[in-house]
Amino acid sequence: MTDVASLELTDQQITSARNRLAQLRKKLAEGGLPGILVSSEHDIWYLTGFVGHSALLMVTANRAVIICDRRYEELLQAWDACELFEVVMGARHKLGAEVKRLAGEEGLEQVGIQAESMTIAFRDGLAKSLGSLELVATTDVVATLRQCKTQEEVALIEQAIGIQQDALEVMLEDLTPGMTEAQFTARLEYEMRMRGAEGASFEPIIGSGPNSSVIHHMPGDRPIGDGMLLVDWGAKVDGYCSDLTRTFCFGPMPEPMERVYEVVLQALETAIAACKPGADCAQIDAAARDVITAADWGDQFPHGLGHGLGMDVHESPYFSNRSGGTLLKPGMIMTVEPGVYLPGVGGVRIEEDVLITESGSRVLSTWPRDLDSAQRPSLKAGKGSR
Ligand code: GLY
Ligand code: MN
Ligand code: MN
Repeated sequence: MTDVASLELTDQQITSARNRLAQLRKKLAEGGLPGILVSSEHDIWYLTGFVGHSALLMVTANRAVIICDRRYEELLQAWDACELFEVVMGARHKLGAEVKRLAGEEGLEQVGIQAESMTIAFRDGLAKSLGSLELVATTDVVATLRQCKTQEEVALIEQAIGIQQDALEVMLEDLTPGMTEAQFTARLEYEMRMRGAEGASFEPIIGSGPNSSVIHHMPGDRPIGDGMLLVDWGAKVDGYCSDLTRTFCFGPMPEPMERVYEVVLQALETAIAACKPGADCAQIDAAARDVITAADWGDQFPHGLGHGLGMDVHESPYFSNRSGGTLLKPGMIMTVEPGVYLPGVGGVRIEEDVLITESGSRVLSTWPRDLDSAQRPSLKAGKGSR
């Protein structure tokens, strides 16, 4: 992030905002909506480059108005100075009055709102100040625009992956028996921030021993020792998230985790090989699921295969049995993350971030995922380095 004192929108920011606003306006016109009130912080960030809380962005055919309270007045001078945007300052309780005034100036009778990011309470409060202006609920209008990433967005996610990998490498080198899951998590986040991440892209899932079978385990005070260790972690760089999972075992793998690992890996490789433009998201989910079902662990894989990755760690599209008809396109970044979870024994999940290219796909991480690299020496014998 730039210092406020030196903040000016760069040519790249202006070009990107211009393109994104044009795409949004095209989509609104296709849907017959004269304007939209964008309330999702990440969507506003995506469309304008402005990062702040509780703002609204009203986009019509001719105007893009950031409506915000005075916490961001100094920061927003750069947007006010840019020909693409207008900035309206006002207290939060006056936002509705501003929306009404702008709609009146533009002659709008209706305006879209984002059902996925606006609470019912906020909508009802807003509606009271709007008179006859109709609020029309929309879903996924900006989310769809965000699905295909530019080269710059891909580069940020690759940077986040580099940071998370470096941070995990140092963690595994320094791991000694007795460090708790929570301590491991705290230090992993610290190591990512020290390498330039804004933070973790989500609270890391660090599951040791039998905790590795809890799909979204919350790290606790269990000491990490010999046995399974599932690490699902990611970094955030300039608003973009990464999200990988690796499962390790210190010392011998408990039965039947070696076989579980091989099956999960085979499911992952099968799905990655199927990732290409035009592929159906439900069929890719099924391709991985079939491998696990054939090994009789279908019931132990109770989540979707993966999700889009970008400013949100989970964003559309999704790999699941409900995604039929959703086709992959170049520029999408998808996680592929099959897992098998055996309560009381442990779990294996392996997760990759996969860029869909013009001709197929490219895995963005460089961390090995084969069985050998998952098997680590016993922690009792010394360090847990790879
Ligand atoms: N980190 C949560 C997930 O992999 O979806
Ligand atoms: Mn993950
Ligand atoms: Mn994920």
